[in-house]
Amino acid sequence: MYQIHTADQYLWENLNLDNKLVLEGGTSWGNTTHRIAEKVSELKWKTRLVSVDIDDDHFDQIEKDLSSHFEELQLRRADLSQLDFLANNLVDVVICNYTLSSVNQFPLRAVKTLREFYRVLKPDGQLVIMEEMPIWSVEKGDYPYWSQRLRVIKSISVLKAMAHFNEIHPTDLEQTLDMIGFRNLHYQEFKEIINAEMATRFLDKRKQTLLRGVNDIDNEHLTKGFVEITEKLVHELEQTKEFSAPAYILKAVK
Ligand SMILES: C[S@@+](CC[C@H](N)C(=O)[O-])C[C@H]1O[C@@H](n2cnc3c(N)ncnc32)[C@H](O)[C@@H]1O
Repeated sequence: MYQIHTADQYLWENLNLDNKLVLEGGTSWGNTTHRIAEKVSELKWKTRLVSVDIDDDHFDQIEKDLSSHFEELQLRRADLSQLDFLANNLVDVVICNYTLSSVNQFPLRAVKTLREFYRVLKPDGQLVIMEEMPIWSVEKGDYPYWSQRLRVIKSISVLKAMAHFNEIHPTDLEQTLDMIGFRNLHYQEFKEIINAEMATRFLDKRKQTLLRGVNDIDNEHLTKGFVEITEKLVHELEQTKEFSAPAYILKAVK
């Protein structure tokens, strides 16, 4: 596997957002929105950003923190697979980080989303996607915390028959984008650093789901076993500040 020094170098290579309309897919708590805002300010770009998420929980805070960085910042609650409010051939750049696997909780919605990205992008418009590698493609021993955390989260979700993140392998993503019509496809794998505290919060949320007793398979030993595994992992993660995860950035052009 070819490792680049930092994902940031690859992310910003040949990516100029000056006088551009950018669509961000998956605002969430604004990690990538902050990353874009910092770059825009550093290089004094005049950028209009439309950031879309199905969940608007963090919009107010992000608007307060970041609107002064942009020519225009629009936070929009919508499903990325139905971007009806955006015309065809309108957007210069789409950036979609760690969101496709979330959209992909529901089969084929990720494909509809990629088709929407294609529709709203101008000819020659750029697409940038950042994602974690699928767990089945990674040696457990190479990323022990990441691997254990994902296995616990996914197992609890399956146990409760819940929809859960489905990471997409970069070669499958490349082929799907090619089928849609994208060109100049290439990707790089890298190690992403994950904040352990944030990772613990999500694990704890899953533990609460487990204890809520909805959709159970009515086996208290199984539930107790998973609670123990989760608590042990949370404890281990509390001892470490951060851990690494296998990720990739894929770039394409319409
Ligand atoms: C892991 S978070 C994104 C992280 C963020 N982009 C970053 O770089 O840190 C995934 C986000 O995707 C959003 N999401 C999932 N399915 C979606 C959909 N169909 N349309 C819009 N947003 C969606 C979730 O609400 C969640 O906020």
